[in-house]
Amino acid sequence: MPKAVVLGAAGGIGQPLALLLKTNALVTELGLYDIVNTPGVAADLSHIATPAKVEGYLPPDDGLAKTLKGADVVVIPAGVPRKPGVRACSSCRQINAGIVRDLATGIAKTAPKAFVLVISNPVNSTVPIVAEVFKKHGTYDPKRLFGVTTLDVVRASTFVAEVLGDFGKAPDVVVPVVGGHSGVTIVPLLSQSSHPLPSDYTGDKLQALTTRVQFGGDEVVKAKDGAGSATLSMAYAGAEFAFKVLRALRGEKGIVAPTYVNLDADKSGGDALKKEIGQDLDYFSANVEIGPEGVAKIHPLGEITEYEQGLIKAAVPELAKNIETGVAFIQSSK
Ligand code: NAI
Repeated sequence: MPKAVVLGAAGGIGQPLALLLKTNALVTELGLYDIVNTPGVAADLSHIATPAKVEGYLPPDDGLAKTLKGADVVVIPAGVPRKPGVRACSSCRQINAGIVRDLATGIAKTAPKAFVLVISNPVNSTVPIVAEVFKKHGTYDPKRLFGVTTLDVVRASTFVAEVLGDFGKAPDVVVPVVGGHSGVTIVPLLSQSSHPLPSDYTGDKLQALTTRVQFGGDEVVKAKDGAGSATLSMAYAGAEFAFKVLRALRGEKGIVAPTYVNLDADKSGGDALKKEIGQDLDYFSANVEIGPEGVAKIHPLGEITEYEQGLIKAAVPELAKNIETGVAFIQSSK
């Protein structure tokens, strides 16, 4: 115990994420699945002198089921990344929706109790897709399903440290990022930063920093110039979140991280949050306490500024649309 699995393990995110999981002594088994190259990635990683036993499978001969057997934590970075100049890649969304649906079906059949961490974009829709698949199979437990929004949190920490002129502070800066995981649905609560911004960070400056967190992915897509989107920083962020989940599974207390969850996962916390945002949304990213059974508590937004209230107001309709798209995709799938 515990076994971690990466679905999409040969990709730009999958490989470094698998590497980071392999280097964590909490992981004792690591299962890797992709439609290409997983035996090679697994053989390579298996030579690293850390406890995890590594296996890699391809689709033939029930490779997905073999990979998922006995999984405690399943991370999904399978899919296609977006291209430069394309903020909302509709063909990517459609392809990823199908990939995530099929992988979720495999999880429902083979590892229905696993904690599932969804990285594949658009997270605002792919998390509801996984939920709907699990509902169809009668295996849905909202406490065990998480959308990974950690890259937004990591970026917020880095960019705030940059504003403070001290990169050394980056690992300690904590900024809750709530809402969803694309563009305007990403709401960094900079007023709650553990390290306050300089007093002149109002108006245009505050807006520019907020926009940088919301659209940070564009910087990477542009710089990679056709070679994909964020992979290394995403692998780091995905591993950071997976490690928190692994520690919670071991019974460590007080583990809190922003993540995109079904607000039914903690009814009273979820209802309180719905009141704060003034909308009956099913999914939202908030600070969530994670325990051995999964979501233990959904935290309220707490005190936020008028500016941040405006950001939430702008996020909500877009988020509602994205959630509806995910649910409708499964309801219209055979
Ligand atoms: P990539 O193209 O480098 O890797 C994707 C991998 O998925 C490939 O190895 C591919 O063979 C595999 N794959 C495709 N279909 C599969 C299937 N049916 N079963 C198993 N594996 C399958 O892409 P990259 O850059 O690793 O991105 C992956 C996903 O992560 C994209 O959807 C991207 O938008 C998303 N992403 C999410 C972020 C987040 O913050 N949550 C940040 C950056 C990217």
